[in-house]
Amino acid sequence: MTRHEPNFTLRSDSAKTHVFVEPDALDYIGKWVSRDRTPPVVVVLSDTTVADLYGEQMLKSLASHCPNSELITVPPGDQSKSLSHLDDIYGKLGRLRVPRDGMLLALGGGVITDLTGFAAATWMRGIDYANCPTTLEADVDASLGGKTGINHASGKNMVGAFHHPRFVAVDTTCLKTLPARDIAAGLAESIKHALISDASFLDWHQQNASAIRAVETDVMSELVTKNLRIKASVVEQDEKESGIRACLNFGHTIGHAVEKLSNYALRHGEAVAVGMVAAAHLSMQKGLLDSKAIARIRSVLESFDLPTIAENLKPAAIIETTLGDKKVKAGKRQWVLLNGIGAFTITDDVSDSMIESAVQEICPT
Ligand code: GLY
Repeated sequence: MTRHEPNFTLRSDSAKTHVFVEPDALDYIGKWVSRDRTPPVVVVLSDTTVADLYGEQMLKSLASHCPNSELITVPPGDQSKSLSHLDDIYGKLGRLRVPRDGMLLALGGGVITDLTGFAAATWMRGIDYANCPTTLEADVDASLGGKTGINHASGKNMVGAFHHPRFVAVDTTCLKTLPARDIAAGLAESIKHALISDASFLDWHQQNASAIRAVETDVMSELVTKNLRIKASVVEQDEKESGIRACLNFGHTIGHAVEKLSNYALRHGEAVAVGMVAAAHLSMQKGLLDSKAIARIRSVLESFDLPTIAENLKPAAIIETTLGDKKVKAGKRQWVLLNGIGAFTITDDVSDSMIESAVQEICPT
């Protein structure tokens, strides 16, 4: 029987984040919020769709531990990660008189965890918050590691801060209500973690493929925990992405370009799947990966209904768009490449012709 104790704790210079992964975790939020101290005011931030599904359950769980709890919402979608919605949220926090020892709780996907985290990072120069992610992408990636922010006319996630949540509570039963396409998009990030850090975890995805596709609670709890442990170990080594944390961007340089050029018709994880195939080809050109490994990567992604080609996109447009990537340093793109399955290397020593030929591989004519 579970004791509702953390599965593990991420510890770094500025973080101590307890991670709970449990079916029905939302029923224990009140207990976890008041674990060290009881905040005088707790504000749950969600989107209207997620609030309809889980808002009441969350408030009920908080009621006996933190009687002064409120739920506020924004519309669903990326457009809520904006200065105007943030301004609106500050207004509500003011009206609810949220003090410095108050706390915010994010209930939703990556948009909500990023937005709540940034509101918490900036309200009264920084208050506590915790993440209760409800999508697989947020469960395995966005919820942990302290990256918070909003979009701006200058670009996605252009305004932000590192601010670590006090805890992350993943309720794996929430995954049952997600469309299959959203599960697949989250699996792309899970496969990414396997490719950069643990070959046996890639085997695990293949061995458990039918249970994963059926979103079986036990296997999904194991999947989320394995992912968050991988992410925690990277963040513990390099909290602010001055070095190896960039490995978490494997597949993202070309993935972001593909996502943008699809006019966001592709889910982030779907675009990352395509970007990982291109990055794997680039790794082969550098002599770091063989064609058998590339075939395996494609086959694992396709087995979870993830795309491996960029439909209807032009290679030149993809390459041009990668130049706007935030990871450009002194005009040079930083590439995360695979050094075999389960290991990575980061380099800017990649020629234009290598990039062209890797991008050709995802744009068949
Ligand atoms: N999602 C990549 C990171 O947290 O660094």
